[in-house]
Amino acid sequence: MNSTSTLLHLDASPRGSRSQSRRLGIDFLVAFRAANPSAQVVTRDLGRNPPPFVSEAWVEGAFAPAESQSPAAREAIAVSNAFVDELLAADQLVITTPIYNLSLPAALKAWIDQIVRAGRTFAKSASGFEGLAKNKRALILVTSGSDFRPGTPGGAYNFLEPYLRAVLGFIGITDVEFVYAHSQGADATTRSTALTEAQAAVAHFARAA
Ligand SMILES: Cc1cc2nc3c(=O)[nH]c(=O)nc-3n(C[C@H](O)[C@H](O)[C@H](O)COP(=O)(O)O)c2cc1C
Repeated sequence: MNSTSTLLHLDASPRGSRSQSRRLGIDFLVAFRAANPSAQVVTRDLGRNPPPFVSEAWVEGAFAPAESQSPAAREAIAVSNAFVDELLAADQLVITTPIYNLSLPAALKAWIDQIVRAGRTFAKSASGFEGLAKNKRALILVTSGSDFRPGTPGGAYNFLEPYLRAVLGFIGITDVEFVYAHSQGADATTRSTALTEAQAAVAHFARAA
């Protein structure tokens, strides 16, 4: 990554120092900063400061002509615009997240609902949809209580990875890698083996970033 590049780092767990997914993110950032001392890192703590849900005012702000929008609509869409601007300015995205109830935590879904925007991150034409958030890579660092990796029996219950691949691809981010620290609710040996493997993968991706 060159010196002017920007990394957008999002944490989705509501937990602080106990969070395994945040821990993986810290491992990534330490290695990333060592390999890319001049890169800019922008961090958003979604887990502890969740983005607002889409509201009636938000929908008005996203779809009504600017000149007819209510003050509430302008305010709601300004929040979304800030999230979109931050994403579009980034060259790379790192998201740390637990699996919650077979899928993603609501705070991360709330961020997705803020950044998937017609005319800003995707466009619709006669030939279909086109993602506008191009030339970015994403790395998703996932922790889970069980083994939900694709290809395992639990993988059939993993709706996080297929959903994130689909929605990021929809806005133009198709270079997406996943690292799993799985089985964090299992016995100590299984848990620490999975964590060590995840840490090695994170170090690899941080050096390659
Ligand atoms: C509300 C909730 C739902 C969860 N759902 C799942 C699940 O569907 N599958 C799974 O393997 N683990 C599940 N877990 C376990 C977490 O994914 C696991 O503990 C993870 O390591 C937590 O990440 P964190 O330490 O970064 O907070 C759930 C935990 C919570 C609190």
